[in-house]
Amino acid sequence: MRVLGIETSCDETAVAVYDSARGLEAHTLHSQVELHAPYGGVVPELAARDHLRKLPSLLEKILGKRLERPPVDAVAYTAGPGLIGALLVGAAVGRSLAYAWRVPALGVHHLEAHLLAPLLEPEPPQFPFLALLVSGGHTLLAEIEALGRYRILGQSLDDAAGEAFDKTAKLLGLGLPGGPQLAALALRGRPDVFRFPRPLTDRPGLDFSFSGLKTAVVVAIRGRTLDEQARADVARAFEDAVVDTLAIKCARALAATGAGTLVVAGGVGANQRLRARLQALGAGSGARVVFPRPEFCTDNAAMIALAGCLRLQAGEHDGLAVQARARWPLAELTAPGDAGARQA
Ligand code: KG4
Ligand code: ZN
Repeated sequence: MRVLGIETSCDETAVAVYDSARGLEAHTLHSQVELHAPYGGVVPELAARDHLRKLPSLLEKILGKRLERPPVDAVAYTAGPGLIGALLVGAAVGRSLAYAWRVPALGVHHLEAHLLAPLLEPEPPQFPFLALLVSGGHTLLAEIEALGRYRILGQSLDDAAGEAFDKTAKLLGLGLPGGPQLAALALRGRPDVFRFPRPLTDRPGLDFSFSGLKTAVVVAIRGRTLDEQARADVARAFEDAVVDTLAIKCARALAATGAGTLVVAGGVGANQRLRARLQALGAGSGARVVFPRPEFCTDNAAMIALAGCLRLQAGEHDGLAVQARARWPLAELTAPGDAGARQA
């Protein structure tokens, strides 16, 4: 089955084609980072309009100009969670293409797609596995038993890890996207000049809390003029605190579940220090640690096409209505065929 994937949940417009027999055939992406840069954050209305502006040329790039017959067997688009206007653009375009081509369409859960992104890699993990999802909007640890069977072990009680990176980057006067810019600055920072807390690691449990960490940075730099080295030192200490916290919780989750594989997904999974730290954790504990390549950690359409393909192959598809959800808890997902699953 060949599936067209469309991602427009936030500030990346992306299109991909995944084939169940041949794997990923094509993918392309347009980042809106420059569009939103002057505003210091993503402006939802501008995001939606830009998705609409860019989708036609991205689709043409992937599918070609003249289509004599349907180029795919189905269409998958991100249906949530995300910015509602942005989501509706991808949903309307995806649903309309599927209607014109007389093929099924399916709205994909963005976080499920992140969790399944490692399956795009040459040596994909086998179910069941443990997953750490660290994106701009979510931080959670879950046991991934099968497609649609996700047992959430812990999650952020406030800010997501990516959000904490972005807010701290802003405090340090860095531009967008905050996470990668802070990580780049941290490369020049010295460890242990500043030290920030490892939130919720001093008590049992697998939940996260990152908003206090951002406050600790505010307190540390308040009233000080930071030179370039001091800013780098703060960035380094912040990154170390986040990486340490995530690694401590992953070690706990591996021990609690006895899982043999840890998958790391979502934008913060592109962070090199986190990747190195979790690889070391895996080496020490005998678990295999798997990451999508960095470009499939951050938002992309390859993961949407793949996640859509798995559910479409299992017989799921949506009706003709264009539907998207700004909020859509991962816990609401069901496995294909389970009670409450979307009907074929
Ligand atoms: O998964 P993603 O692309 O979008 C969401 O679904 O949220 O994640 C974006 C988040 C942003 O907060 C961004 O700053 C962060 O991932 N991020 C990073 C890095 N690359 C992206 N954070 C730290 N280090 C990175 N290299
Ligand atoms: Zn994402």
